[in-house]
Amino acid sequence: MTTRLVLAPLHGITGRVFRHALFSVFPGLDEAVAPFIAAIPDAADARPSHYKDLVPSDPAVPRLVPQLMGNDPGSLASTMGALAALGYDEVNWNLGCPYPMVTRKKRGAGLLPHPELVEPCLDAMAGAGMRAGMAVSVKLRLGLKSPDELAALVPVLNRYPLASVTVHPRLASQMYGGLPDLDAFAAIAPGLRATLVFSGDVRQKEDMVALSSRFPFIKAWMLGRGVLMDPFLPAKIRGLCLPGSPLPALEEFHARLYDGYRNSLHGPRHLLDKMKEVWQYLARAFPDSDGLAKAVSKTKTPAEYEQVVRRLFRS
Ligand SMILES: Cc1cc2nc3c(=O)[nH]c(=O)nc-3n(C[C@H](O)[C@H](O)[C@H](O)COP(=O)(O)O)c2cc1C
Repeated sequence: MTTRLVLAPLHGITGRVFRHALFSVFPGLDEAVAPFIAAIPDAADARPSHYKDLVPSDPAVPRLVPQLMGNDPGSLASTMGALAALGYDEVNWNLGCPYPMVTRKKRGAGLLPHPELVEPCLDAMAGAGMRAGMAVSVKLRLGLKSPDELAALVPVLNRYPLASVTVHPRLASQMYGGLPDLDAFAAIAPGLRATLVFSGDVRQKEDMVALSSRFPFIKAWMLGRGVLMDPFLPAKIRGLCLPGSPLPALEEFHARLYDGYRNSLHGPRHLLDKMKEVWQYLARAFPDSDGLAKAVSKTKTPAEYEQVVRRLFRS
């Protein structure tokens, strides 16, 4: 199966530390889309911290595509220019973020019912892309409240030379729960001219096999929570040889995450909060996942946390 496997952006999780640890230890992924940063005016003069998730580039990650959130054509174009200057050759535009404080401002999925706002943004991004030699892709949902919104947006999207369109086939009103609406996806997807990337609920190889047989035109897959719950998933999808025991790789992955966060986050509280967030997913890679997630969530100090983890990897 020749497919492209892309690590999904998960804001707050799949940042630089996580990507480095994942790509260093587990094979199978081709690239990653970074969690969104805001599109800002005068982006070339922004504080370097605005781009801290993206600079310097990480040789462990073969390809990284930055993602922008925003609805102001000038800011999108300006931030693309800054990203091109940092060496990036593609930018992804977020039209999928479902949080009401974002959508209320007509950003993320809040733009989906507004083709009249999407069009000037794509004009500006296409222009900036031509000037900077940069491709533009988008990642979106079926709609804010109805799949009719994406259906109405398709002719607008088709007017631009988009490198890809990633579809997460849920409505924003579903957040991340409920089922993806595959029937609505089936009705809309074939009308999209750009290369399609599918994002949503691929948890095991069988999910992808089933989706591939229903949607044979999809050649690129974005893996999010499935990889967080089983970092071997890309290798399993590709049929790569797996180690006899998963524990050494998981231990190495954890050590890289823990060290990376300890060196980049301020104080034990932030470190523990971050690790607890990771374990909400990663616990699924272990036999007693509920017990493990609970034990980790109860720890109050790094010392307690380290003890729980030590016991896990000794067992
Ligand atoms: C905690 C969290 C944060 C996310 N952050 C982003 C983001 O920054 N940009 C984006 O386009 N999608 C974001 N997503 C959506 C994912 O990229 C993905 O499309 C979605 O989780 C469905 O795929 P999955 O079932 O493989 O996780 C986020 C999802 C979650 C659960």
